[in-house]
Amino acid sequence: MSSTPKTVATQDKNRLYYGDNLQVLRDYIADASVDLIYLDPPFNSRQDYNVLFAEKDGSRSASQITAFKDSWEWNLEAERAYQEVVEGGGRVADAMRAFRTLLGGSDMLAYLAMMAPRLIELRRVLKPTGSIYLHCDPTASHYLKLIMDAIFGAAMFKNEVIWQRSDAHSDGKQGSKHYGRIHDVILYFSRTDNPTFNTLYTPLPESTQAKWYRHVEEGTGRRYNKGDVTGPGGASKGKSTLRVEGHHAILALQAIADGGARGRGAPSVFRERHGLPEAIP
Ligand SMILES: C[S@@+](CC[C@H](N)C(=O)[O-])C[C@H]1O[C@@H](n2cnc3c(N)ncnc32)[C@H](O)[C@@H]1O
Repeated sequence: MSSTPKTVATQDKNRLYYGDNLQVLRDYIADASVDLIYLDPPFNSRQDYNVLFAEKDGSRSASQITAFKDSWEWNLEAERAYQEVVEGGGRVADAMRAFRTLLGGSDMLAYLAMMAPRLIELRRVLKPTGSIYLHCDPTASHYLKLIMDAIFGAAMFKNEVIWQRSDAHSDGKQGSKHYGRIHDVILYFSRTDNPTFNTLYTPLPESTQAKWYRHVEEGTGRRYNKGDVTGPGGASKGKSTLRVEGHHAILALQAIADGGARGRGAPSVFRERHGLPEAIP
């Protein structure tokens, strides 16, 4: 990493910073100015990643440079980073002290001491409606989740997304004493409990439409299926209510009049139309 960040500005909203992200964040990025962060940091994979050059004929060249080292060492620099976080106080300082007790002065603690101050800065720059996606892998995801809980608040944890690789990984080869390690982890946290979240929809595959939405509404040709009308969550969560809307209310109310909510295995009269805009799935 170059010690002095260089900026390559094209437009105000499209600016590339080249340098150590901690310094860039502290020197250039204002509080509460960022909508969305996706972070693909080093994972503590204990490997060096090289850029391989190609010869003119396309064959692999002998020359290569180390693009970045993903191995961490507990040394003076790591100790300084750790101290800085601990002196900053708060729950993240508690978490780091607990990690020191648990992990000792180790490579993992050095890695976490590098990550923690950056995650603190990333929270600072997020807008109240902002979100952060932290890509990591099972080597450190459990420690990072605790650090994220300490920095963002456990209530701001939204999802752990599993990124499963579709190509095989050689670590599950014959003779190995473990299953193939074939997934990464993406921790999704929001800055507050009111993040911008745009649900994306994709069309259902034709085969699913044909299988699930077999019925066609007379007159409009719209497809629907028949499912029960109980609310989400089930009786154990106190949410086992019948949801009724618009003209479907008649059918649901008729069901209640016919024998009340009988829970699972309710008679078919409880079944309702799903898939139409006015139905609640
Ligand atoms: C897991 S790789 C990300 C790879 C990238 N997402 C891609 O698909 O090519 C981690 C990246 O973080 C960069 N990196 C490591 N420490 C950094 C730091 N302090 N500031 C900025 N970038 C850093 C490394 O150079 C490396 O490119």
